[in-house]
Amino acid sequence: MPLFRTDPSRIFADRRALDPSFIPSRLPHREEEVERLVLDLSPAARGERPTNVLIYGKTGTGKTAVTRFVGRALNEESGGRAKYVHVNCEISYTPFLVLTKILSELRGGQPEAYTGFSQDYVYGKILSAVSASGVSLVVALDEMDRLMARGGEGLLYLLLDANERLDSGSIGVIGIANDIGITRGLDPRVRSRLSEDKIVFPPYTTTQLMDILRDRARVALRPGTWDDGVLELIALTAAAEHGDARRAIELLRLAGDIADSRGSDRITEEHVVEARRRAEEDYLRRLVETLPLHQKAVLMAICELLNRGAPMITMSVLYGAYSNIVSFAGLQPLTQRRVRDFVHDLATMGLISAEVRSFGREGRTTVVTAKSDPAKLRQILLQDELLGSLGGGGFGGQRTLL
Ligand SMILES: Nc1ncnc2c1ncn2[C@@H]1O[C@H](COP(=O)(O)OP(=O)(O)OP(=O)(O)O)[C@@H](O)[C@H]1O
Ligand SMILES: [Mg+2]
Repeated sequence: MPLFRTDPSRIFADRRALDPSFIPSRLPHREEEVERLVLDLSPAARGERPTNVLIYGKTGTGKTAVTRFVGRALNEESGGRAKYVHVNCEISYTPFLVLTKILSELRGGQPEAYTGFSQDYVYGKILSAVSASGVSLVVALDEMDRLMARGGEGLLYLLLDANERLDSGSIGVIGIANDIGITRGLDPRVRSRLSEDKIVFPPYTTTQLMDILRDRARVALRPGTWDDGVLELIALTAAAEHGDARRAIELLRLAGDIADSRGSDRITEEHVVEARRRAEEDYLRRLVETLPLHQKAVLMAICELLNRGAPMITMSVLYGAYSNIVSFAGLQPLTQRRVRDFVHDLATMGLISAEVRSFGREGRTTVVTAKSDPAKLRQILLQDELLGSLGGGGFGGQRTLL
């Protein structure tokens, strides 16, 4: 029996409409945000300097989609008076890379080699291109958080200060971030210029996610392959943590793939449940696999202790368990301080919960509790070559290392 199906999909009419980069023709429940951004950028459509704006919101709340949507319209409708450039700072993660991305977009989007040029040179070229054409350049710095540790403030200063140096044309900036605290450490001048307007994107509710999914399903899926019950189950899942449209759309695609691979002619709730299970596991796996070994050992110690029924773990117990595990592996334990940092990182990633609690006279200590299923995490950790090989048969048997 062949491994792949080559017949046309029974489920998808246009699977690309569920790609993360797809921008739909309308964005339900973001009408106000679109309108506000249009208002901020409308001077640019007339060739004047737009209002700088900061956009905040949790992941999957439509920040990138709305900004690209409005930016595309600006490019199409301004008759060349404005130029919108969308920079993903996860890819262009240094000021130099951002500037070269802007310059190449100004020059028609052809990738060019800028190695050997200095930042000042590229910046100067941007200024002369803007000045010569008189264009209103709008730069969206998406995932701006990524840039802040690498000289982002200097870059913001250059971009915001450019208007003082231009004879003609202008530069406006849209900053996009998850965390409202991103501007906290910034020079007050940079901060106030950047936040001439602020737009906060709230998480979607379940019914809003339903509308988004229904729109997408109509484009991406064949008629009769889906129903509201299926979409509702997906929407509820995506709304459970916070209203994340990306997660909703990914689940729909995965459920469609599962239905397709099973030769089904429609997506059922069972396919959604299976998609949810796989998505969750993929997510955990991606997080855990990239952890350094000692951090994996800390997580392993936490899972072992929780699996034995401990409702919460104090730092000293955890440190003992961690030391045992790494000693078994023939490694030297790191200091308690490092382990505490690891615990903090694991909590930031959402793998565990950690909080500082006060125990009367005994003082304060960090206490760890479960957030994800420890048994599942343990399964993933056991796939690490070193951790999995410990103690013959690994930690899989009845006897454990602790
Ligand atoms: N109102 C909406 N209507 C239709 N699709 C939407 C809407 N909001 C978001 N989406 C879709 O959901 C997905 C995630 O949205 P988007 O990438 O804009 O999130 P984000 O806020 O930028 O998240 P992150 O902070 O993780 O970058 C995208 O595929 C986007 O097209
Ligand atoms: Mg985004």
